Amino acid sequence: MLKIEKASVAYGRATALRDVSLLVNAGEIVTLIGANGAGKTTLLNAVSGMVPLKSGNIWLNDVKLSGHPPHKTVRLGMGYVPEGRQVFGSMTVMDNLTMGSYTLFSRTWFGALRYSGWALRSDRTRSNLEMVFKLFPVLKERKSQQAGSLSGGEQQMLAIGRALMSSPKILLLDEPSLGLAPNLVKDILRLLARLRDEGLTMLLIEQDAAAALKIADRGYVMERGRIVVEGSSRELLRNDEVRQAYLGKTRA
Ligand SMILES: Nc1ncnc2c1ncn2[C@@H]1O[C@H](COP(=O)(O)OP(=O)(O)OP(=O)(O)O)[C@@H](O)[C@H]1O
Ligand SMILES: [Mg+2]
Repeated sequence: MLKIEKASVAYGRATALRDVSLLVNAGEIVTLIGANGAGKTTLLNAVSGMVPLKSGNIWLNDVKLSGHPPHKTVRLGMGYVPEGRQVFGSMTVMDNLTMGSYTLFSRTWFGALRYSGWALRSDRTRSNLEMVFKLFPVLKERKSQQAGSLSGGEQQMLAIGRALMSSPKILLLDEPSLGLAPNLVKDILRLLARLRDEGLTMLLIEQDAAAALKIADRGYVMERGRIVVEGSSRELLRNDEVRQAYLGKTRA
């Protein structure tokens, strides 16, 4: 579904990604593991169109993404749960969620003007909203609350819910469990596994690499902007270098 071919990204003179190639097949959770500063967020930003590629290509099914701005990549089926949640703090939970379905409607400034009134009358938005409220009942209870006053875990649920509102084909998740209590981390990962079982495809960055590999189908390890190891989750969980560097464990 997602194919990244020899992608390179530079910030000024500093190269952040070098010839990164990565595949995510339909129905898979693929996890990206790496130390702080390895380039994981940069890769997701390149896929979503937030940073330009210096060279290489990115494809979503048969559509070339490289060069498309973020609002286009969302329209093409990319859902993004960014690092640090980034919910719209002064807006209500409900408005954050309907904003997530924005790209389903507005193709022009005129569409944007009509958007707010139309969104909730659309079947697609309503059925997506129902699905999100079923996944996260707490968001339904708090739909009129300002998003900025939600707890960290609730904001994370909102960020995931908002991304699901655009009916994505693939979800990019950048450390969705950062800062959450261990039992909430498990809940979020369990939920992602459930979404995968229902057919959603995901590229996941997760601080707890061991927990991510437990739900992922495959994984890639990134060091200083390059992919250094790739394999099935089972292979990576048994790989001695991966165990020592990222799983805090000794040899298999
Ligand atoms: N906007 C930017 N301008 C300049 N350098 C940047 C920018 N964004 C990231 N970098 C640099 O690119 C490198 C990769 O950063 P990136 O955020 O992709 O790492 P990461 O793997 O997501 O790390 P973390 O686990 O800490 O989130 C780092 O050296 C970082 O300082
Ligand atoms: Mg990051």
